Amino acid sequence: MLIDTHTHVYLDDFKEDMDQVIDRCKKQNISKLYLPNIDSTTLVPLHNLVNAFPEICYPMMGVHPCSVKENWKDELASSEETLRAGTYIGVGEIGIDLYWDKSFKKQQIEVFCKHLELAKEFKLPVSIHSRDALDITISEVRNLHDETLRGVFHCFNGTTEQAEQIMDLSGFYMGIGGVVTYKNAGVDKVVKDLPLDRLVLETDAPYLSPVPYRGKRNEPSYINEIAQKIAELKEISFNEVAEQTTKTATDLFL
Ligand code: NI
Repeated sequence: MLIDTHTHVYLDDFKEDMDQVIDRCKKQNISKLYLPNIDSTTLVPLHNLVNAFPEICYPMMGVHPCSVKENWKDELASSEETLRAGTYIGVGEIGIDLYWDKSFKKQQIEVFCKHLELAKEFKLPVSIHSRDALDITISEVRNLHDETLRGVFHCFNGTTEQAEQIMDLSGFYMGIGGVVTYKNAGVDKVVKDLPLDRLVLETDAPYLSPVPYRGKRNEPSYINEIAQKIAELKEISFNEVAEQTTKTATDLFL
């Protein structure tokens, strides 16, 4: 059994063939999909999908850093209110993204830290997005870290040193996705030497498809390619990767 710990299959990209996408998951032993929210505009599709496939879809609540704009206070309030009113397996997607837009850096950090506090209050794990901002993201987590704060640095593509800093934070793991299959991305060389018990699998569908689907729409069933690549890098069996990452993803979120 495999778990996709970070996937956005509630987005419009899957509108036409959602049933088949879920069907392929079941046929390929993908037992659970963890769904991080994006912002207030994705609440309805997220909840609709979870209601349609409650046996496989598990929602998180948060505000993606790229959705922290002029209306960031409204987004923050909406996320907190929704989190308080419902049942979620985690707080996400949250984080800091300085790749697309640095103009809301201060607000991104504030929204991120507020969600870390909410995660602590609800004793929920977090799913963290970080782009061009890994050092500052790690340091914000470190500032608020305690025995309840735990989670995943999703789509990890940092250095060995940054991986070590994450592993120094007890309860924190790295989400490995399609980028590990890309030649020249470099993350394969880092992942090769990371302990398997600090890794979880993710697709980040519909984005970042693994080879041989690169450039096409990503979907959770492609998690097999990611598990296979990690097995090759670490010279262990596919089953060992599946078993350990599924155990970690279950212990952390459910
Ligand atoms: Ni995401």
